[in-house]
Amino acid sequence: MFRPDEVAIAVELLDDALAGDEEYRFLGAFSGEELVGYACWGPTSGTTGTYDLYWIVVDPARQGQGVGTQLLRAVERELTAGDGRLVIVETSSRADYGPTRAFYERRGYARVAQIPGYYAAGDDLVIYLKDLTHAVLARATA
Ligand SMILES: CC(C)(COP(=O)(O)OP(=O)(O)OC[C@H]1O[C@@H](n2cnc3c(N)ncnc32)[C@H](O)[C@@H]1OP(=O)(O)O)[C@@H](O)C(=O)NCCC(=O)NCCS
Repeated sequence: MFRPDEVAIAVELLDDALAGDEEYRFLGAFSGEELVGYACWGPTSGTTGTYDLYWIVVDPARQGQGVGTQLLRAVERELTAGDGRLVIVETSSRADYGPTRAFYERRGYARVAQIPGYYAAGDDLVIYLKDLTHAVLARATA
C-alpha cells in the first residue's frame, strides 16, 4: 500500500526516534516476539496539546483482528495521560484507503477537511480529527 518514498520516510522517522528525537514517538504491537504493527505520532509544532498520528500500520496477514484498534487506543491513552488534546490524522482520498478511512471514522475521528489534488491529481488529502477532551468527558460521565 505504501510507495517506496513513503517507506523511506517511515524508516527515517524510526531512525530519528531511536537516535533520541522526541518529535517522533513509536509504539509496537507484538505477538510473542514478532512485531505485527506499529504506530508513530508526535506533537504538532506550534500547538499546545495537538498531536499528529503520522503512521499506523498492521501486517496485512494480521489486519482485521483488532491490532490496529489496540494500537490506536494505546496512542490515545498515552496522549490523554499527558497534555494531549487533539489528534490529527492525514490520509488519502484514494479508493484503496476506503477501509482505512472507515477505520478512523468508526473510532471517533471526524473528517474535518479535504484538500483536492493534494497528493496527486485526483488524490486528495483528507484530514481527520479526534478531540480527546470529549473522550475524557464521555468516560468521566459514563
Ligand atoms: C488501517 C489499519 C491500521 C487497521 O488495523 P487493523 O488491525 O486491520 O484494524 P482492526 O482489526 O482493529 O479493525 C478493523 C477495522 O478496520 C477496518 N479495516 C481497515 N483496513 C482493513 C483491512 N485491510 N483488513 C481488515 N479490516 C480493515 C475494518 O473495516 C474494520 O472496521 P470495523 O471494526 O469498524 O468494522 C490496517 O488495516 C492497516 O495497516 N492498513 C494499511 C495501512 C494504512 O492504511 N494505514 C493508515 C495510513 S493513514
